[in-house]
Order: sequence, then structure tokens, then C-alpha cells
Amino acid sequence: MKYTVGILTASDKGSRGEREDRSGQVIREMVEQMGWQVNIAEIVPDEQSIIEKKLIEYADDLKLNVVFTTGGTGFSPRDVTPEATLAVVERLTPGIPEAMRWASMQITPRAMLSRACAGIRGQTVIINLPGSPKSVQECLQVILPSLEHGLDILVGKAGECARPLEHTCLEHK
Ligand code: MTE
Repeated sequence: MKYTVGILTASDKGSRGEREDRSGQVIREMVEQMGWQVNIAEIVPDEQSIIEKKLIEYADDLKLNVVFTTGGTGFSPRDVTPEATLAVVERLTPGIPEAMRWASMQITPRAMLSRACAGIRGQTVIINLPGSPKSVQECLQVILPSLEHGLDILVGKAGECARPLEHTCLEHK
């Protein structure tokens, strides 16, 4: 299935046009390789209320299957993307950031500094990615294949899972 994607870059400099959004571009390239479609990509300042408003719009109005944020997951006082995400999601999906941090820790111990979180609002999965293009690439390559299966379940298409012998999700139904 061709899932729809929103990309929200949280960056004060990016929103003022002072920094090129290379991380957003990496997300676009990698999800398009999955056969998914990017419907919207925007850059906003690191303001919690603005990020929350965009996430709600992407989920409730645009009804996107996935929203990836990039940036604002670190320790700077301006890093508020996880707080905005936690304020709008209805169900947490902790395994996704756990997997990103576990895999990223094999590359750099500083991966533990990402406060990224993820969750579901309605039919939309919202996932925080770190800010740099390199971290975005490292995290996405870990989560994208399994995320597709999660989306299949969320939209009720899990019956079409290409690896039926390897998952038991449907056995619980
Ligand atoms: N994850 C991966 N895969 N690769 C990285 O280089 N950098 C870390 C971490 N996650 C990194 C990573 C660092 S140094 C920081 S400070 C945090 O992400 C937060 O980044 P952000 O504030 O740009 O979101």
C-alpha cells in the first residue's frame, strides 16, 4: 500500500531560511524508496504550540498515515519536539524510539541523548527523529521495514502481510 507521509522539521534556523533542510530531504528520499508518498513537508521553529498544531493538522485534517518530525529531540532548552508529540498522541509506541536508540548506540554513545518519542493519534503514527541528516538515515533504516507492518495493522491491511509465517499478530484477533 502507498502510505502517505508528512515531514515536519523543527528548526529555528531552518524556519528563518538560514539553514537548508537536508534532514527533511533524507526522510523524503528514504520513504519514497519504500513506495510511500510525501504529501507535505514543512519547517517550523522550535515552538511547542506550533509543532503541536501542525501534528494535529497532519493527523486530523490531512489524515496522513505517518508523520516524521526531525530535530528538537536533544537537551537544548529550545528542544521541545518530544513534549509537543506527547501532548497530541493518544497511544505510545515506545518500541520505535527504543529500536532507534538501540541501533544508534552501536554507532555512537551520544544516541542516548535523543529524547525522541513516538505514538499514534487516530490513524496516524507520529515519530520523532533526531536532527542531523546522518542520524535520520541511521534511524530510518532501522524502523522503516517494521513500521510498514505496523501501518498495515493500523489500517486493517495486516492480512496482506508478506511474511505471514513470521508474525503472530493476527493470531490474537
Ligand atoms: N542518532 C544517530 N543514529 N546518530 C547520531 O549521530 N546523534 C545524537 C542523538 N541521536 C545521533 C543520534 C545526538 S549527538 C543528539 S544531541 C541527539 O540525537 C539529539 O539530536 P537533535 O537535538 O538534533 O534532535
